[in-house]
Amino acid sequence: MILSPSILSADFGILAQQVKEAENAGATWLHIDVMDGHFVPNISFAMPVIKSLRKYTDIFFDVHLMITQPEKYINDFIDSGADGVTFHIEATENPEKCIELIKNRGKKVGISLNPNTDVSEIEPYLESVDMVLIMSVEPGYGGQTYIESVNTKIKYIRERMGNEFNIEVDGGINENNIDSVLDAGANIIVAGSAVFNDDIYGSVKKLLR
Ligand code: DX5
Ligand code: ZN
Repeated sequence: MILSPSILSADFGILAQQVKEAENAGATWLHIDVMDGHFVPNISFAMPVIKSLRKYTDIFFDVHLMITQPEKYINDFIDSGADGVTFHIEATENPEKCIELIKNRGKKVGISLNPNTDVSEIEPYLESVDMVLIMSVEPGYGGQTYIESVNTKIKYIRERMGNEFNIEVDGGINENNIDSVLDAGANIIVAGSAVFNDDIYGSVKKLLR
């Protein structure tokens, strides 16, 4: 299992320090939520923050783009230090282009779908991506409740793609429900508020136990 703590819930004034704390506790990925106020109602941060943070850590930067027309910015996010880039199927007319842009730079490609989007929407791209990111809350905000019905999608993708494939699940995961998400077939777990709203080191250790 890979834990990818989401910095959306971090204290941005001491971001590098908090990321180090998560890393020291055993986190190997860092989930970086980019929001444009258009694809989702909320705005977060973008390239300058990622670029600054890159100087302080070698942790895998798992960049989750919640932005319209991601193809316009993929190269910029990779220039800023992304190791993997995930785009939303609902946000682009040109998923093939997004996949190609990310692959051409030698980075890991993720494709994501919202809780209400049918898995058939991403079916044509499954063989061309490294990871599926299943949203278990409506994207836009941390601290929401896990939507149980997405477990059906997790199970389906796991059966369809086999054991080596990466399935990341994002939203509403904490120490009480992490086991059921893993049982459904996820192998990469995003946790924002469950890590950064508390003792970071202790929370990462608990989730990874
Ligand atoms: C929501 C983001 C999530 C969010 C998860 O749009 O994609 O990554 O930070 O936060 P929690 O773990 O608090 O639900
Ligand atoms: Zn996310």
